[in-house]
Amino acid sequence: MFDRQKKGERAVLVLPHSRGEGDAVRRAEEFAELAKSAGAEILGSIAARVEDPNPRYYIGTGKADEVAEAARALEADVVLVDHLLTPVQERNLEKLLNIRVVDRAGLILDIFAQRARSHEGKLEVELAQLKHIATRLVRGWTHLDTQRGGAIGNRGPGETQLELDRRLLAERVKMLTKRLEKVQTQRGQQRRSRMRNTVPRVALVGYTNAGKSTLFNALTTGDVYAADQLFATLDPTVRKLEDLSCGPAVLADTVGFIRELPHDLVAAFRGTLIEARDADLLLHVCDAADDERERLHRVVDKVLEEIDAGDLPQLQIMNKIDLAGTEPRIDRDAEGRPQRVWLSAARGLGIDLLRQALGELLGGDRVQSPLHLPLSAGRLHSRLKAAGAIVGEAVDEHGWQLDIDAPRSVLAPLSGGNATEAELLRELLGPVE
Ligand code: GTP
Repeated sequence: MFDRQKKGERAVLVLPHSRGEGDAVRRAEEFAELAKSAGAEILGSIAARVEDPNPRYYIGTGKADEVAEAARALEADVVLVDHLLTPVQERNLEKLLNIRVVDRAGLILDIFAQRARSHEGKLEVELAQLKHIATRLVRGWTHLDTQRGGAIGNRGPGETQLELDRRLLAERVKMLTKRLEKVQTQRGQQRRSRMRNTVPRVALVGYTNAGKSTLFNALTTGDVYAADQLFATLDPTVRKLEDLSCGPAVLADTVGFIRELPHDLVAAFRGTLIEARDADLLLHVCDAADDERERLHRVVDKVLEEIDAGDLPQLQIMNKIDLAGTEPRIDRDAEGRPQRVWLSAARGLGIDLLRQALGELLGGDRVQSPLHLPLSAGRLHSRLKAAGAIVGEAVDEHGWQLDIDAPRSVLAPLSGGNATEAELLRELLGPVE
């Protein structure tokens, strides 16, 4: 419905920078990564020194002409600018270049839109997109543009059209906000674990460029999930993790944290992370060779807290040890639990140690036990079933004879039935440390 980049669009990047502004090379690399994440094919990039932003184009007039020439010569479909542009600047540049111009916020929103998976996350992203579009004179509502017809003079009908677009937009924003509120209330009422399966869920989080996708690929094989019904229903950023001592698990990649995330996009970004909130374990990937890694680590933790994932167990991954000059190893806490794994995803160093740590952390807390339930405990029976905790089952006039196999974290929240049911569940879970 709205302006979204198609895969494989041919893009020219414009990289504005000013004196005393951080590491330009690193920023340029990150922006190129973002553009690729959005599916762009990068034809070239143009650096633009901006000390005094030009109100018309943000970049200088001469630079704008240079970009126009390059875009024409390279037959680009879109120009991506690594800065926030005002709607007027974006429009002026589009007029001058005669192709689409997308600023940093637009590009990031596009990536979020591709990566948000949960219903709530998608709603958050769409809301942010609509708000972004609302400030941009509803560019992209092309179905309405074509109805307008090209021959009529621009001003009058343009304005009428604009009002209509604005009203439609406002209605949709209102509707989405209401839906989002409803989803959020429902979530508040539900127990986080209700929807979980017995297969433990692991989610990768971390700054962009830390190596999450590389690790994701090193730990899983591309087509495994397609063969399996459970995993076939999930998207390509979720795959099955095999060969762990605890049995299979699922691994989800998430969109990377981005430096200088435009403020208006913070809610949308959280939307892309909602999946992480439902994980049993977070793999927090850091770049061990990055001087800034401790600060970035704190930023990630803070956002995780904000999305209600601050209390989830975390295993820290110190990636890129080949650059940091460190050997693969596992650091453990006082109780001997794995806390940090040093590895290189790209070189395949220490991946075996990570598997070992995952097996320990995910398997350690599994309840595998027979369980007899009287027929009066029907509610607990359905809860266990819904949670996927029952692996064997026989029923007679005395009740159900079950084989239970599930992580403790899945079983623990299932009480809430009658007193007998609560007692049965307590017995199943055994003494609490
Ligand atoms: P986003 O998708 O942007 O969030 O990034 P990411 O965290 O998924 O990072 P990605 O896996 O795309 O890796 C970023 C860059 O780091 C790539 O160029 C990788 O080749 C490189 N990289 C990943 N792991 C290692 C490693 O162990 N050693 C070295 N030297 N480079 C690595």
